[in-house]
Amino acid sequence: METFTIKTFNISKLEGISEKSIEEHLKLYKGYVANANLILNKISELKSDPEKNAIVLAELQRRFGFEFGGMRNHEYYFASLSGGNKEINKENNLNKAIEKEWGSFENFLIHFKFVAMTRGVGWAILYYDKIYDKLIISWVDEQHLGHLVGLSPILCLDMWEHAYYLDYIPSEKKKFVEAFFENLNWEVIEENFEKVI
Ligand SMILES: [Fe+2]
Repeated sequence: METFTIKTFNISKLEGISEKSIEEHLKLYKGYVANANLILNKISELKSDPEKNAIVLAELQRRFGFEFGGMRNHEYYFASLSGGNKEINKENNLNKAIEKEWGSFENFLIHFKFVAMTRGVGWAILYYDKIYDKLIISWVDEQHLGHLVGLSPILCLDMWEHAYYLDYIPSEKKKFVEAFFENLNWEVIEENFEKVI
């Protein structure tokens, strides 16, 4: 049984992120989808004897957040690079919310890039918190550790080395962060925001 399906993305030639890098990265994304499905199927099988399989079930349960996170984070990432580079619309709700939080789009970029440079592998994520009507940028370790409860991702930047190792060496990862922002389709990111406000 397949609960989750692999999504396709319309990613044309990017500035500073090679086609080979995207091609290899999409393979990894497919692995997360496959493994998220596999874990649900395995749990379904093994729960017929929960006592005998207790340890395996517990480990699979813990692993699910990693695989699901890997799937969903990458879907936001690749979607934001799809459809060509489009600038943010200054009149739209997202830009207004960004200006309310950080004063200007430029200040938002500075803060996001600072979070992206967090040591270790993981994700820099812009979230919207409906309870406080507030945008928050936060760091997630690996694929799942530190996601903010109940908040909706708006923009996800993959800071695992696999995201850039074909184009940049680790000490140059800031160049990858800059390249990411050169290629974003802000219409997609604005849609993410409109869906959750
Ligand atoms: Fe990745």
